[in-house]
Amino acid sequence: MSENELLKPDAIESDDDDTVCLGESFFIDNNYELATFTFGSHVLHLLCLQSASTDFDLTGQLVWPGARLLNQYISNNVELLQGSSALELGSGVGVTGILCSRFCHKVVLTDHNDEVLKILNKNIELHKSSEDSNSCAALSAEKLEWGNSDQLDHILQKHPEGFDLILGADIYILFILSFKRSLFRVHAWFQKTVEACASRRETYRYKCRVFELNLPVFQQNSVPPLFDTVKQLLCLQGKERCRFILAYVSRSKMMDVMVTKEAIVHGLQINEVEGSRSVISNLEGVIYEITL
Ligand SMILES: C[S@@+](CC[C@H](N)C(=O)[O-])C[C@H]1O[C@@H](n2cnc3c(N)ncnc32)[C@H](O)[C@@H]1O
Repeated sequence: MSENELLKPDAIESDDDDTVCLGESFFIDNNYELATFTFGSHVLHLLCLQSASTDFDLTGQLVWPGARLLNQYISNNVELLQGSSALELGSGVGVTGILCSRFCHKVVLTDHNDEVLKILNKNIELHKSSEDSNSCAALSAEKLEWGNSDQLDHILQKHPEGFDLILGADIYILFILSFKRSLFRVHAWFQKTVEACASRRETYRYKCRVFELNLPVFQQNSVPPLFDTVKQLLCLQGKERCRFILAYVSRSKMMDVMVTKEAIVHGLQINEVEGSRSVISNLEGVIYEITL
């Protein structure tokens, strides 16, 4: 690799791709275990992990407190879902969407992570074949990265009538993860650069160059694209015909403010569901209802 190539900011993507010798699969834990979840009178059996890696965003491999909060709310308010269609964002292993399939007539579970989609599809199959499925809904999984219009269009081609309910539980934490990932990328690129340099003098020069580069520290803030997608879905049905039910678990004041602010910036109404504020896994959780 020439010096010029090394110094080009757009060489970073390919450089760090070359540098990371341990592929994604090295970090993936597939040792799923069958776990039982009870929400009111509803019992679900799902494959999941008990902990997850934040590398490559494998957070969806386990059930989060937000899903427990939302599922408790759903099981206490089944009339909200009866006969409706629902799309879930960031479904993870699918505990919320699968519970909804007991009351809705159609549920589409979505996630952006391919590894998570694999276990999500397995859980859907497991649920469909289980004796206690009690399902009345057509249940399917689709890939959907928030803000990705092509993927959303693909889903809407299959479901042109849109959805009555959009659901989300614990789905806005990538803001912090992406900071970690950016540091990892800088580190990986720097290591490669050091190896490529013949002398100490060159190493020092490249080291300086890394920190001069305007690398995006917050590479991806997933809250605005999340609300872009939500707004698109809400607009499809029109005012008062569709709502976004979000189980929010507070982990930082900054994120609390950002979620509410981003809903307002998108011209949406955000209301706390009365009586929904509760402590879940030692954190404060709340159900928001978000509408046009
Ligand atoms: C913390 S997990 C929550 C999973 C599940 N809702 C629960 O509460 O158990 C966040 C989920 O959102 C998904 N996710 C994160 N960022 C996303 C994005 N930009 N687009 C789509 N899905 C995303 C992750 O793959 C993961 O499944």
